[in-house]
Amino acid sequence: MKVVSIINYKGGVGKTSLTANLGAELAWRGKKVLLIDLDAQASLTFSFITPEDWLKNFADNKTIKSWFDAFEKGKPIELSNLIDKPSRIKEKLSGKGSLDLIYSHLGLINVDLDLAVKLGGASLAQAKANFISIHNRLSDGLKESAFEAYDVILIDCPPNFNIVTKTAIVASNYILVPTRPDQLSTLGIDYLMRNVEKLTKDFNDYAELDTGDQVDKIDPKAVGIVFTMIQEYDGGPIAAQRAFIQQLRRKTIPVFSRYIKRNDSLFADAPVYGIPVVLNGYTSNSHQSVVDGLEGVTDNFVTAVGL
Ligand SMILES: Nc1ncnc2c1ncn2[C@@H]1O[C@H](COP(=O)(O)OP(=O)(O)OP(=O)(O)O)[C@@H](O)[C@H]1O
Ligand SMILES: [Mg+2]
Repeated sequence: MKVVSIINYKGGVGKTSLTANLGAELAWRGKKVLLIDLDAQASLTFSFITPEDWLKNFADNKTIKSWFDAFEKGKPIELSNLIDKPSRIKEKLSGKGSLDLIYSHLGLINVDLDLAVKLGGASLAQAKANFISIHNRLSDGLKESAFEAYDVILIDCPPNFNIVTKTAIVASNYILVPTRPDQLSTLGIDYLMRNVEKLTKDFNDYAELDTGDQVDKIDPKAVGIVFTMIQEYDGGPIAAQRAFIQQLRRKTIPVFSRYIKRNDSLFADAPVYGIPVVLNGYTSNSHQSVVDGLEGVTDNFVTAVGL
């Protein structure tokens, strides 16, 4: 089981679209995939189910928020209880891999506030215990045996570095950073990586403190930057975008050689609440690549994380 967080501070760079479509493509290729929506905007959730279905069947007690809340109330529930296996997706995959989901909730933003007040402690031992137990929450949840069956778990993170996002990074083996090829989108990547390093160091410093309880260290690896929304001219990215790609190639995180192309008509035609999921173009034994570039990006991903 590999856990991968899809993250970028910058909003609207294609995190959710990439999570949904990479997950679908991996599942179509035979992998057992779980997607976790960790964003209070819940756009990944609403790419797979309608708001009506969400309200009726999930909102009250089957979202990632209910799981965090139950823990705070001292009545933990199993994270695996939240897994949904939509039949519509099963039909599309017709026995190949699987694509399961854990949905989000618009109220997840309050969970961040609840967790933040729990950090700290009167003694070093107490501070360690609080820091580790809060940051390890998702990681601990994913230790249930039900999750071992997955080849890969993709976590769609919100565009911030709040505590819920940090729980995703702590739980992750790998971090994937989608970006648009423009200055504002690429500016924040250094800052993001510095914050990931700092979180890793803080966590491991606490883990090393000898207070009697053994804590495993973490090592989330930045597996790559993937460009989304590339415009091509003459078989390659347009000149202005090429400059940003070159610029990022000089950084320490690898840049995927393949990228997602911009396709305004596909994305504009999507329902207001949904991201078009590539599965729509799949039939039992073939698929049309509705998201241009997805197959190459998936190849890069499979190599990078060793799937
Ligand atoms: N390849 C693409 N071509 C054109 N439009 C795209 C493409 N990928 C995503 N979009 C559109 O760009 C917008 C942002 O995409 P998405 O929601 O995936 O980004 P995000 O990084 O998850 O945003 P947020 O930070 O709000 O979570 C959406 O309207 C989506 O439909
Ligand atoms: Mg998103």
